Amino acid sequence: MRRTIDWDGDAVIAIDQCALPHEEIVLRLRDVDELIDAIQRLAVRGAPALGAAGALGVALLRHDPGVRVAAERLAQARPTAVNLRWGVERVLARLGDGPDAVLAEALAVLDEDERVNRAASDRAADLVRELVGRRPLRILTHCNAGRLATVAWGTALGAVRSLALAGDVEEVLADETRPLLQGARLTAYELAEMGVAYRICPDGAAAAAMAQGLVDCAIVGADRIAANGDVANKIGTYAVALAAARHGVPMIVVAPESTVDLSIPDGGHIRIEQRDPAEVTHFAGQRVAPPGAGAFNPAFDVTPADLVTAIVTQDRVWHP
Ligand code: MRU
Repeated sequence: MRRTIDWDGDAVIAIDQCALPHEEIVLRLRDVDELIDAIQRLAVRGAPALGAAGALGVALLRHDPGVRVAAERLAQARPTAVNLRWGVERVLARLGDGPDAVLAEALAVLDEDERVNRAASDRAADLVRELVGRRPLRILTHCNAGRLATVAWGTALGAVRSLALAGDVEEVLADETRPLLQGARLTAYELAEMGVAYRICPDGAAAAAMAQGLVDCAIVGADRIAANGDVANKIGTYAVALAAARHGVPMIVVAPESTVDLSIPDGGHIRIEQRDPAEVTHFAGQRVAPPGAGAFNPAFDVTPADLVTAIVTQDRVWHP
């Protein structure tokens, strides 16, 4: 399995997630400005992949006297996923040990990512089997929390991967994920690659799918988890959680411990990225709304802890 993001001698290489599923392009990012641009236009995206990008960005800067200033710009490239700053700070902490140590730390972040995500995914798969009697399972997921959102394997879609390898998945409903279609483009691409049966579900149809008894479990990733278990994830996750609670469907969050931010007591302290209104007023580059139409376009929402059945990490099953 090709890593989503990796180090290649003197540059960061990353699968271009804006080009998928039509084209499989690998970007070569030679400096931090190119990396920040790739992050902001979502060519590199997904919380754990952003952690890796933060780590590798500091590796790019390891000989630069202005490393701390440039690293801060990188850490702020997207504000909601805590993993980006986590990756930057973890590698910055090795600056005093010299450039080789900085690079080694960044490479360690990459190696750990796959190991940690596999552990969290396997644990989540076991939990789902425990919670849901029915087999094979019908699973709903939102956005893309697969290998493309990590260095490898995935978190929520990693759990689907673990379940599918055991023959325990009947179908995945992949929320299309408005407005940028990470579900319809990326999750669908990964499920096809895994050979798992899936259908794309308009975000607004997730509740109806649950009402019709088509969903045994909802599994999603996270961008930041507060100390009380409130979960920031892709916009629309909160609506999935509300519908899941109404219909008695378990709502499982899978994430590495690096996504847990113990410095904030609850989700009210999470900064939510607001994106360009044109992502909503236009579709595939074409205006669909009348000229002058504004848009409310938060990239993420916060699901309150009481709507989350469990948060599963590499270390624990947490019932917030
Ligand atoms: O805006 P994106 O595509 O970066 O949002 C990604 C998500 O919300 C994912 O669900 C989250 O980062 C978890 S990825 C394992």
